[in-house]
Amino acid sequence: MQVDTLILGAGAAGLMCAAHAGGRVLIVDHAKSAGEKIRISGGGRCNFTNLFTTPENFLSQNPHFCKSALSRYSPWDFLALVERHGIAWHEKTLGQLFCDGSAKQIVAMLLAELDKAGAQLWLRTQIGPLRQTSQGYDVTITRDGTEHLVQAKSIVVATGGKSIPKMGATGLAYQIAEQFGIPLTPIRPGLVPLTFSGEVLDTLKPMAGLAAPARARAGDGSFDDALLFTHRGLSGPAILQISSFWSEGQPVTLSLCPDAAILQTLQDARKTDGRRAIATALGQVLPKALAQYFVTRSGLTGTIADQSDAKLADLCTLIENWALIPAGTEGYRTAEVTLGGIATEALSSKTMASKTQPDLYFIGECVDVTGWLGGYNFQWAWASGMAAARAVAKPAAAKRNTAKPA
Ligand code: FDA
Repeated sequence: MQVDTLILGAGAAGLMCAAHAGGRVLIVDHAKSAGEKIRISGGGRCNFTNLFTTPENFLSQNPHFCKSALSRYSPWDFLALVERHGIAWHEKTLGQLFCDGSAKQIVAMLLAELDKAGAQLWLRTQIGPLRQTSQGYDVTITRDGTEHLVQAKSIVVATGGKSIPKMGATGLAYQIAEQFGIPLTPIRPGLVPLTFSGEVLDTLKPMAGLAAPARARAGDGSFDDALLFTHRGLSGPAILQISSFWSEGQPVTLSLCPDAAILQTLQDARKTDGRRAIATALGQVLPKALAQYFVTRSGLTGTIADQSDAKLADLCTLIENWALIPAGTEGYRTAEVTLGGIATEALSSKTMASKTQPDLYFIGECVDVTGWLGGYNFQWAWASGMAAARAVAKPAAAKRNTAKPA
């Protein structure tokens, strides 16, 4: 079978690329359905983009790399596509757009676009090794037990990262990069719950199930969002966000209820009902179990009336600077994304093409561009998929770069 473009992986980036590449397009995946992560995303409603997407919302060894693709396919472009398909949506918070109905509508929309473009989708396939030829690449694709030799002028690798192996993540993109000597940056799980051990876990465990607003800080990151105590440690959006900035051995610093004027609340309580226990007064702004924990930790005893301003201020400092060293993360098993990947220096930021290997493209999560929580990762998938689609859609002569076969 001869095609212009063979796309490996029918996830968000691959589907977007297949729908817009033009020419003879074949997209293959080993899963039984396309866009499985889209289907389960955003609690089943898919946070499909973020209206305030900027390059600052992404982590990468080269923070400038994502600019070109993101500027040429914006959240508004994707929203226009969503609206053309009559999908109802709403803005949840901070520019995060979700389907009113179901994430399945986004998958159906992409499949309809794929169909309209005449691209072929093969599911439940096995992808054999890539062999470079004078015409492009030969790949053996096994489907329903039958081997098909697919000859493609271009290959677009869209097999995602390593997150959630149960959903079919394999790391194939990294193997393909290695095969052609394309450099990788170290990969690790991102947007993932943090785990703790020993005394810290003993402290956190009894509070499992409790949620509180918090500011989480680590490295260069600082996020105000909900924090959730779990049996293994900490989760919730604030923790998922900060996990991408955290490195092993470093503390994560929490500030509980950052918007509440805790000191003022305690001083007011001292005036109005000084006989109350400190934990009871603190319970006005913090969940009771947390209030009790901080009072015990501060060593304060007696009623709120017994406490000086200085003692109350010390208690607030504890609450605002709770530094904890995680033992690790829940790993790829639950991580929403994979940080790191195909080194951006090896790719054209305009087309996502390898700079050294002709007609080989990498898009989506496998590239060393990782978004924050909030619809940014899908926006990167759409934008990078579109960048490659525009490049492969050009006549072969115009798109050939100076790359020499490896
Ligand atoms: P993606 O993982 O989507 O697709 C890769 C495809 O390649 C898969 O279909 C897979 O089966 C296939 N594949 C892999 N290895 C293969 C092999 N060896 N052979 C054949 N096929 C292979 N982001 C966001 O912006 N908003 C959100 O609401 C969410 N929510 C969310 C929830 C959960 C639970 C997760 C795990 C993730 C999210 N994300 C998200 C992140 C988002 O899902 C992710 O960034 C994109 O799906 C990445 O798109 P890709 O197309 O690059 O990979």
